[in-house]
Amino acid sequence: MCQKKPFYITTPIYYPSGNPHIGHCYTTVACDSIARYRRMQGYDVMFLTGTDEHGLKIEQKAAEKGVTPKEYVDEIVKTFKGLWKFMNISYDRYIRTTDDYHIETVQKIFKELYDKGYIYKGEYKGKYCTPCESFWTESQLIDGKCPECGREVTEAKEEAYFFKMSSFADRIEKLLTETDYLQPKTRAVELVNNFIKPGLEDLCVSRTTFKWGIPVTFDEKHIVYVWIDALSNYISALGYKNEKFDEFDKYWPADVHMVAKDIMRFHAIIWPAMLMALDLPLPKHLAVHGWITFNGQKMSKSLGNVVDPFVLGERYGADAIRYHIMREMALGADSSFSNEIMINRINSDLANGLGNLVSRTVAMVQKYFGGTLPTERESGEFDDDLIETATSLRAKVDDFMDKTQLQNALAEIFKLVSRANKYIDETAPWVIAKDETKKARLATVLYNLLEAIRIACTLLSAFMPTTMPKALEQIGACEKCAGYENCDKFGVLPADVTVHKGDALFPRIDVEKEIEELNSIIKNNEGESEETKALREELEGVAQIGIDDFAKVDLRVCEVKTCEPVKKSKKLLRFTIFDGVKDRTVVSGIANYYKPEELIGKKIILVQNLKPAKLCGVESCGMILSAVHGDDLKVVFVDNMPVGSKIC
Ligand code: MSP
Repeated sequence: MCQKKPFYITTPIYYPSGNPHIGHCYTTVACDSIARYRRMQGYDVMFLTGTDEHGLKIEQKAAEKGVTPKEYVDEIVKTFKGLWKFMNISYDRYIRTTDDYHIETVQKIFKELYDKGYIYKGEYKGKYCTPCESFWTESQLIDGKCPECGREVTEAKEEAYFFKMSSFADRIEKLLTETDYLQPKTRAVELVNNFIKPGLEDLCVSRTTFKWGIPVTFDEKHIVYVWIDALSNYISALGYKNEKFDEFDKYWPADVHMVAKDIMRFHAIIWPAMLMALDLPLPKHLAVHGWITFNGQKMSKSLGNVVDPFVLGERYGADAIRYHIMREMALGADSSFSNEIMINRINSDLANGLGNLVSRTVAMVQKYFGGTLPTERESGEFDDDLIETATSLRAKVDDFMDKTQLQNALAEIFKLVSRANKYIDETAPWVIAKDETKKARLATVLYNLLEAIRIACTLLSAFMPTTMPKALEQIGACEKCAGYENCDKFGVLPADVTVHKGDALFPRIDVEKEIEELNSIIKNNEGESEETKALREELEGVAQIGIDDFAKVDLRVCEVKTCEPVKKSKKLLRFTIFDGVKDRTVVSGIANYYKPEELIGKKIILVQNLKPAKLCGVESCGMILSAVHGDDLKVVFVDNMPVGSKIC
């Protein structure tokens, strides 16, 4: 048996700094459709996706939530994996940059580049925001201020390692302009003019100002900064410089890396330079697509709720969403997301076009022949054109898939769907059925339709993997008939094929009602202030606890008998608190908010079973509850309840 040809395709590894949105879905669904198509063609496919989990942003977000960075990303990675399952993504491997084997590879790559002289120690200069502990480039600043917190930045320097990109400028220019690495190639000009012609700058590849990254083995105060870590995933996932996998020789170089234009530069310049420095072969293609935009803006995490793939998928089915985003976006261009266009497209192409073709044809086979076609045939007008459209389709789709032009591939398949629907109108089976002597002609027309459906649905199964097998089952196509290898042949279904009526593949959507409902979801989200949005995100991130956990915290109404400042501390107040049985000492950091006399005699809520702890040398037995908002703090007072009352 001859060995299957390997095919390696990758998505970017996404930042788990927020939940995934329809933009992430686009790249992943596109790669999934290609991976499925190649598997159908008989390739041995490795489809890789994953998450890029290091960096300052993750470190900060985790700190805000009071969890470790790893705990923080673990939660979001669950959502990514959940979405991929929901969207039926058939990845073969999921890489996390926090995986041990990846860390090992990155450390070895960094060391090799250093040993070869491609990484050197230098000084990083930039605009520094002290409160955020972050360097920014001039172009990242907003009105000259820190883009994160809006405060002043200062000129600062930091010791850092640099990657000598300049050594590879000529080879990279050739790669972009003289080979078909970059798809679409029209983007090469902007890359060459913006980055190579002005002189390729060396890249800063380490940091010392934050900790959440992969340590540089030979200089531990440095961590590997972003791109060397992230880009290496494409080879660490195959076992390059690690023992976890052993598939580097089989799958490298990659056949397709797919990314959007925001990270094209890193994949078109830095990644090839890294591979050149490591003396490794270069990937065959970098397919760059545009952005899904919403109201002219790039879909982003904050807009994520507006076009939430879970919400849309639940309403219309994951396949309909997959189809819509693939069909809308031409490789290279941006595509504006609109609920209205999506619903109209689902109705016109899927419900009316394909769904109707299948249901009408199956219904006619049942109505006129009880579900099983007779074997007599009589050809007639229009047959040849339909057969020609059907049998020539696969080659055209192959060609578009080779060029990662999924939109064109789908458009081509839907030409056959339209041709078949037109064939029904042209042949008018309901008229033929009236004439008892034309049974053979009627059977031929219906058989031809079933064959056209078989070919269209088989090729479409890479794009809509849940519904297409159902369609093929309805038309009586066995697994073998519904193979890619039969898509350029006509007459594959048995002459006496039996159909099986099933549910509508794509129910028609009530446009007005749906638009109204989706708009109201959008309004609710748009009406949300930044503050509410931040609060909602914070609340969503809080882990749920059971009633048993809550019951462990004993909260009681207590009375403040004395209160005085703690010596040597600006923040602490020392209290004598009566808990209904005895007096106890409690220390609380609220001196900036209250004078002692404002608290004496008040009834407060105390966490009375908190383990005692020493604060500035005073042992504190309990904690006073306060409400905190930004810089404001108010102790929670309880009037008219006896001391010792339980809060539950
Ligand atoms: N972690 C880096 C990538 C490292 S790859 C070695 C990163 N992550 S990201 O989470 O920001 O993902 C960017 C990618 O997500 C884009 O290149 C694209 O594939 C996808 N998209 C994110 N938003 C998108 C749109 N609005 N539209 C289309 N694709 C989008 O950059």
